[in-house]
Amino acid sequence: MKVIVTKDYEEMSRVAADIVSQVIREKPDAVLGLATGSSPIGLYRNLIAMYEEGRLSFKHISTVNLDEYVGLPVSHDQSYAYFMRFNLFDHVDIDIGNTHIPDGCAADLDEQCRRYNSLLATLRQDMQVLGIGSNGHIGFNEPGTSFDSVTHVVDLTESTIRDNSRLFASIEDVPVKAVTMGISNIMNAKKIVVVANGSNKAQAVYNMVKGNVTEDCPASILQRHANAVLVCDTLAAAKLQQ
Ligand code: F6R
Repeated sequence: MKVIVTKDYEEMSRVAADIVSQVIREKPDAVLGLATGSSPIGLYRNLIAMYEEGRLSFKHISTVNLDEYVGLPVSHDQSYAYFMRFNLFDHVDIDIGNTHIPDGCAADLDEQCRRYNSLLATLRQDMQVLGIGSNGHIGFNEPGTSFDSVTHVVDLTESTIRDNSRLFASIEDVPVKAVTMGISNIMNAKKIVVVANGSNKAQAVYNMVKGNVTEDCPASILQRHANAVLVCDTLAAAKLQQ
């Protein structure tokens, strides 16, 4: 995979936003696969700025999000539906009806996964935005997940629950399950951009880019994608340069 190392989070966010905005300009009705978490917030901030300056429109864009916690209603400020409105959708001209996020409160979660898979078959991502977990997860596909997986319900690992507890009042409040696109749904995207920053991502970034392609590090599969680029800051890139 192609690697772009930037000096800090701000530059990483600008470079990644340029890559995503290029796709939107070339194809105004593109399908964007989106991620939540702290890594892409700056990227979204840059996209909002381009919209505000009249340089970008989301009017005909559709989006599919990677994942959602099980049990958090859309009104919960840690739900990914809330995150997307707060960090992007409420600030651009996107038609909210064209935005799609798994429903983690669906009565029948297996049925919800099947529906999301059918949706992804019709809305193939022109560009998928990814972050990477410190354990190498992409979406909520934790180590050990099959590379052939499609949308499914996952039990979050202890390390992911610990990582995400920073955003909740206490670790007991972090949901223990999520609905996530599978790895094959992610690999089906025409283009992929991964954003990673901070020293806590350095080992996962190394395993993703230079490690063996193994289900122990879900992100390592991206080495086999024809059009994947990693944009990361120097801290996240530290082990690549050794
Ligand atoms: C979020 C997602 C996760 C995050 C990853 C990194 O939708 O699917 O894979 O991208 O956990 O999270 P941050 O960016 O908060 O370090």
